[in-house]
Amino acid sequence: MKNDRNKPLASPHLRRILLYVLPLPVALLFFSLGFVLGMTTSSARFENIYFPFVTPSSPSAKPSPPTPFPPSGGASAAMHNMSDEELFRWASMAPRVDGTPYHRVPKVAFMFLVRGDMPLRPLWEKFFAGHHGLYSIYVHANPSYTGSPPRDSVFYGRMIPSQRTTWGGVSLVEAERRLMANALLDLGNERFALLSESCIPLYNFPTVYSVLITGSGGTSFVESVATSARYRPLFALRNNVTAAQWRKGSQWFEAGRALATAAVADGTYFPTFRENCAGERFCVVDEHYMATLVSVLGWGRRNANRTLTFADWDPRRRTGSHPRTHRAEEVTEELIGRIRGGPGRGNCTYDDGANGVCFLFARKFAPDTLGPLLRLAPKAMGFG
Ligand SMILES: *[C@@H]1O[C@H](CO)[C@@H](O)[C@H](O)[C@H]1NC(C)=O
Ligand SMILES: *[C@@H]1O[C@H](CO)[C@@H](O)[C@H](O)[C@H]1NC(C)=O
Ligand SMILES: *[C@@H]1O[C@H](CO)[C@@H](O)[C@H](O)[C@H]1NC(C)=O
Ligand SMILES: *[C@@H]1O[C@H](CO)[C@@H](O)[C@H](O)[C@H]1NC(C)=O
Repeated sequence: MKNDRNKPLASPHLRRILLYVLPLPVALLFFSLGFVLGMTTSSARFENIYFPFVTPSSPSAKPSPPTPFPPSGGASAAMHNMSDEELFRWASMAPRVDGTPYHRVPKVAFMFLVRGDMPLRPLWEKFFAGHHGLYSIYVHANPSYTGSPPRDSVFYGRMIPSQRTTWGGVSLVEAERRLMANALLDLGNERFALLSESCIPLYNFPTVYSVLITGSGGTSFVESVATSARYRPLFALRNNVTAAQWRKGSQWFEAGRALATAAVADGTYFPTFRENCAGERFCVVDEHYMATLVSVLGWGRRNANRTLTFADWDPRRRTGSHPRTHRAEEVTEELIGRIRGGPGRGNCTYDDGANGVCFLFARKFAPDTLGPLLRLAPKAMGFG
């Protein structure tokens, strides 16, 4: 079953490269270039990253054409044989500054954290159609999932090596960090959006792209709301995180490259979140990890503290501790318009770089909404 998934993906080129123990000298060249560039243009502090072989780049080193980092069979290869440890090490070392000489056109990484099938995939296919080169897709499915989208799908071959979700939210956060790590290896990716199988786009691709790449000015959209709920003294004990620094927020985020790198390089806070959840059946780390990370890292105005992914939490409509799941009969142009309009039914005038856009994506949409969504997409969302 694992072989089935890997077979069409592992090109002879990829296998050859992996056989030669990730080519360190080549990677070293790319890395030193990117690192020196990063050092000269970034003021961000990353205390916890271990750089095993930083050397000054030699004057003769020339910028290379766009190359995945580490070189591993092309940016098109999502599947690889790296362990989580290797993956995170490489991803932590990848240049974290936008505008490296390796890529010309910045891309948005759409990272889908799913259980298995993606019932709304045909809608996303229409969303991505015609915009090749401006996006990357990564899918983290349950490892027991053996399905595959058809060969002509933009989702084909985009599954990354996944791990079983073992307990509560920790494995969810592990999965989202794994998605970010994979996406960081493609130096073209500048923005990182986490989505689920029940998410839909609210606008067409050019609008989403321009809000995330051009409009946002590098701002990350991680919801981060001050609360002491679920705070445990363990965080003070291990990491000196105070209750005042503790945050809550939606798991679904849109982050810049610097924040995605900080999250995969985080060897300080994540282990505490993990320890805190040990033995707990339901541990809602997914609602606290990224939200608290931006707080303790002092991300300040570089994070908008809100998400661009809508969910209907209205107590009259939600089901228990889950937001409302929209069904086919509710899906109308009016609903899409209402969600786009945001809480005030007008423009979102936050001064956070989203240019008045309240939301770019929305959840949760049941599988049976596919038909109505495809029908109203041209008029309500501007694509299809
Ligand atoms: C990578 O994984 C595939 C499938 O699991 C396996 O056939 C192949 O031998 C592995 N390659 C290396 C270099 O480990
Ligand atoms: C813990 O945080 C407090 C408040 O930010 C600070 O005053 C203190 O020096 C910190 N202690 C350590 C050990 O980092
Ligand atoms: C987000 O919240 C932090 C405090 O946690 C604050 O310093 C920062 O200014 C906020 N960002 C924006 C864009 O308002
Ligand atoms: C939102 O802003 C746009 C452009 O500024 C404007 O055309 C539109 O009428 C505004 N919508 C509302 C509901 O205020």
